[in-house]
Amino acid sequence: MKEIRKNIAQMPGYVPGEQPQSGRFIKLNTNECPYLPSEKIAAACLETIRKGLNRYPDPMANSFRKAAAEVLDVPPEFIMAGNGSDDILTILTRTFVGENETLRLPYPSYVLYKSLAQIQGARSEEIPFTDDWHLSPAFKTPSSDLKLVYLPNPNSPSGTRLSRAEILELADALPCPLVVDEAYADFSDENCVSLVLEHKNIIVTRTFSKSYGLAGLRFGFVIAHPDYIQQFVKVKDSYNCDALSIAAATAAISDRQWFNETVEKIIKTRNWMRPALAELGFNTVESHANFIWCTRKDWDLKNIYQKLKEQNIFVRFMVYDKWKDGGCGLRISVGTDEEIRILLERIKAILN
Ligand SMILES: Cc1ncc(COP(=O)(O)O)c(C=O)c1O
Repeated sequence: MKEIRKNIAQMPGYVPGEQPQSGRFIKLNTNECPYLPSEKIAAACLETIRKGLNRYPDPMANSFRKAAAEVLDVPPEFIMAGNGSDDILTILTRTFVGENETLRLPYPSYVLYKSLAQIQGARSEEIPFTDDWHLSPAFKTPSSDLKLVYLPNPNSPSGTRLSRAEILELADALPCPLVVDEAYADFSDENCVSLVLEHKNIIVTRTFSKSYGLAGLRFGFVIAHPDYIQQFVKVKDSYNCDALSIAAATAAISDRQWFNETVEKIIKTRNWMRPALAELGFNTVESHANFIWCTRKDWDLKNIYQKLKEQNIFVRFMVYDKWKDGGCGLRISVGTDEEIRILLERIKAILN
């Protein structure tokens, strides 16, 4: 199809995780929250419907910016909302990275960054993590065509995280903005939000898909210096968030009790889930996210994934073929205690 731009025709395209839509299943493959979101959301959405959806929404989602600013202790001008954090990542890539320029990402990490570079006709530079999931010196090396660096922290698929001190050191070394993708930071003991106020080249992204139980809503946001926010506004769709999602996200971020209790439950489950998986023979690393990365050489992991799927249990089988040991692993989201107990029983039966 010669009418298609060459870089689009040649790119494989990002493949999202499986999203079964009917039947009963245990879903541990895309790091959603296993609990229903805050009950305050329904009332906020109904009120928005009652007011009428005949008018366009607030293009800047100011009610959300104000609520998020209070929770995160940053001025509202530092915040811009998006249709999921993937929308935000698209906006950032389009703003900073042009054709034949370079975008850097660690490997293995979130595969979408590479697809975003390919859409731009840009180069992506995948720099492997060290064996213990830290940054190699190459990740910090400046280069003239480097325009943007992505760093998921905590990282996916490993769940590991770098300290704020390591991130500051990286930001100081880089000649371009550093995007710290904090999709999973609510499950971690550290985050980089306050660093944005001190360092113009640190940009933080967040999502409502994981810790707020709102993957179905599509809502995320970016925290960045207002000079950058003004540029992102030019790139985003005028109305990239609809009135219902703005109302729901505003209600969700304001319900601190729901949030704190939910995150605490997930961390509690994560804390017993990891040793239980290790007892079944998986190699795991300490996770600061809502999933555990499991590897092992003595079993075909794809086979375990398939056998679980036949029993309506979905985990994510991932292949990073440039990573050590062929790079296969199972990324298993933290579910409810009951879901994880069933998962472990079924894995045990498969292994026996
Ligand atoms: C590291 C990372 N960033 C961003 C996202 C996307 O989140 P959203 O659902 O807000 O688009 C994901 C989703 O899995 C992720 O793992």
